[in-house]
Amino acid sequence: MRNRLSELTATVQDVSVVQLGILGCGTVGAELLALLDRQGTGIQARTGLEFAVAGVAVRDVGKSRPVALADGVLTDDARSLVARPDVDVVVELIGGVEPARSLVLEALQAGKPVVTANKELLAAVGAELFSAADAAGVDLVFEAAVAGGIPLVRPLRESLAGEDVRRVMGIVNGTTNYMLTRMTEEGASYADALAEAQALGYAESDPSADVEGSDAAAKAAIIASIAFGTEVVAEDVHCEGITELTPIDIAFASRLGYVVKLLAIVERSIDGGVAQVAARVHPAMVPETHPLASVRESFNAVFVEGAAVGELMFYGRGAGGGPTASAVLGDVIDAASNLRRGSHASIGTLTRVPIRSIDDLVSEYYINLEVADRPGVLAQVADVFGRNAVSIRSMEQEGLGEGARLIFITHLACERDVRRTLSRLGELDVVRSVGSVIRVAGEDDAAGG
Ligand SMILES: NC(=O)c1ccc[n+]([C@@H]2O[C@H](COP(=O)([O-])OP(=O)(O)OC[C@H]3O[C@@H](n4cnc5c(N)ncnc54)[C@H](OP(=O)(O)O)[C@@H]3O)[C@@H](O)[C@H]2O)c1
Repeated sequence: MRNRLSELTATVQDVSVVQLGILGCGTVGAELLALLDRQGTGIQARTGLEFAVAGVAVRDVGKSRPVALADGVLTDDARSLVARPDVDVVVELIGGVEPARSLVLEALQAGKPVVTANKELLAAVGAELFSAADAAGVDLVFEAAVAGGIPLVRPLRESLAGEDVRRVMGIVNGTTNYMLTRMTEEGASYADALAEAQALGYAESDPSADVEGSDAAAKAAIIASIAFGTEVVAEDVHCEGITELTPIDIAFASRLGYVVKLLAIVERSIDGGVAQVAARVHPAMVPETHPLASVRESFNAVFVEGAAVGELMFYGRGAGGGPTASAVLGDVIDAASNLRRGSHASIGTLTRVPIRSIDDLVSEYYINLEVADRPGVLAQVADVFGRNAVSIRSMEQEGLGEGARLIFITHLACERDVRRTLSRLGELDVVRSVGSVIRVAGEDDAAGG
């Protein structure tokens, strides 16, 4: 017994130095360097791994940095840094597809594990990179690419590896969740909520990737790929942002017992014995009783449903230098430990399965119509719903005269039928305009609590 204990102690104390080549020293890269500095001793004591920074590649070596770096560490030649024989693990924190893709491929082909936080890269060419990592027998790990500091990728890949995951539904963009919180709780307009998010540094000066949903769509593609083992790319994800939402819709949702959230939803189903995947990002009305409804401000949360495990929720900070660097550092330790053991974690071969069209979605819908306020309007509108196989669950009239509105919540209906209904409604003289249409999500989960 004593011998075994001294063997184990010897292993932990047998420190090996792992040299990191870090590509990028922006928001996340600088935080990673600060974290390595603060946590290095603790990590060494716990894991026996000592991390040294061999080099940090940036675009502009003359820029001032929030972290102190030893002379000669900064370089603007990322390619040479990746190729250096003393670099053991490459950490890609540049962002975008190129040159990140080429640099990651070069690292993997040289047998170096790669840690990345780059959702855009993985959502575009993930399958190519995963197979390069497998061919080289090294890790490609990316916990920070989805939901920043929230452990989600590793639980999906490892803890839930034996689970039949049916659906993953999440708030994966903190900027839009912050804006929707302001619009819900203070009745702020879209423009005011955006200006506030920009002033707080949550939104970029060009906020389109957040507000138009493409950031969430990239994350949805990655989540679908790891949850279902299928290749899903950003273009497979049906994507609608929050730019058309009005305070009126949000106030109606609230009166009806819902909160509006921008959701990324991925689902797997079997149709005629063939597996299909659906992936979409859009604003959704979530019942106030659903766990996702209480996720406020810039927080993220991801709700996972599996056949055996039931419902799980992961909650936390989905972005920001500190939370993201924390996830990156966890991956760095994992990749370095695997490298020392001569093993690697494989995501497996991603199969390509049919992507279900949004036209086939079955959901409940909120529909907001501006109508003429005169007798017979409701009968004409209801007739269009009925003829197009969309049945109405509830209806409210708001306002009189020119400003009259009809707000409908439908029963479960097919998206294709709803689209046809909206187009016919738009042709009626009594319908002045077809306003927002918002899908209802999570209704069936709310009761389970
Ligand atoms: N920020 C977050 O909250 C967050 C959250 C989750 C995931 N991520 C992901 O993390 C990655 C990094 O994000 P970030 O916010 O840290 O970005 P960032 O602040 O824009 O930093 C990017 C860094 O990459 C460097 N760089 C750009 N092009 C380069 C090139 N061709 N060669 C070498 N270096 C180059 C830049 O150099 P200069 O400094 O000289 O310009 C900068 O240091 C992205 O993939 C992002 O999607 C970020």
